[in-house]
Amino acid sequence: MLIVSTLEELHSARLLLDGPTGFVPTMGYLHEGHVSLARRAREECKSVIVSIFVNPTQFGPSEDLSKYPRNLERDLALLEAAGADLVWTPTPEVMYPPGFSSWVEVEGLTKPLEGAARPGHFRGVTTVVAKLFNAVQPQRAYFGQKDAQQAAVIRKMTRDLNFPIEVIVCPTVRETDGLAMSSRNSYLSPEERQAATILFRALTAAKAAYERGERDAESLRQVMAATLASEPRAQMQYVSVADYDTLEELQTVTGRTLLSMAVYLGKTRLIDNFVLG
Ligand code: PAJ
Repeated sequence: MLIVSTLEELHSARLLLDGPTGFVPTMGYLHEGHVSLARRAREECKSVIVSIFVNPTQFGPSEDLSKYPRNLERDLALLEAAGADLVWTPTPEVMYPPGFSSWVEVEGLTKPLEGAARPGHFRGVTTVVAKLFNAVQPQRAYFGQKDAQQAAVIRKMTRDLNFPIEVIVCPTVRETDGLAMSSRNSYLSPEERQAATILFRALTAAKAAYERGERDAESLRQVMAATLASEPRAQMQYVSVADYDTLEELQTVTGRTLLSMAVYLGKTRLIDNFVLG
């Protein structure tokens, strides 16, 4: 496994790799969710490239970029074991050279949910992913369903900008008690960690209501909100029952539907989702 940092090194290393090339962009502090993407790329592609870059432009002013967890040595060991061929760890100066002023923005899909709760977040994500795509030039790129809106926004950007890349969205990897794996879980106190299963339980309760025949979206939102309210350590930010493709809030559930939520456990903000239909 080769580890490179500059663009020049990346370009030379990239030339030596056989295609199709699979790419997994990450912000590091890897867990089984990230590793599952690298393994999937390993199964499906001739070469696997992973990037590790904590992207400053997708953090809001009140979100603590400097506290984002990091452990490069451990990340590299996990990627080596997963069979990655090349790891790119660009510096902020490589991704945002002095005077940087070009942005990629997807309209519409970025407005609700995470876009409403985190203004500017998706502009940072689409800009950095477009830059990573340009530098790495993969045939396939792997993203997690855990960040459902991000995956939808990246798919849209890829289509709209004619990136010749197939975007593959992989299932959410969970702890045995249902909590979706996330680098942010490391911020939780032991009590908050226990309480954090409430997201999975709220989604499971709404899915059970759906499976009993409930199709009224507001009733499903209420099931999720009521379950979240039963956990005093959890502060709901939003619950949503939206069309899977447009992310518009539904009145009645008919086709493919995204149940999603953002919840604070103390100071830590967690998101999770299920897909119905
Ligand atoms: P990061 O949070 O490091 O996540 C990298 C990839 O791992 C994303 O596609 C994310 O959806 C996926 N992932 C995270 N937790 C997962 C889980 N439990 N199961 C399956 N996949 C999971 O998402 C980002 O970084 C950044 O926004 C990035 C796309 C790298 C742009 O900076």
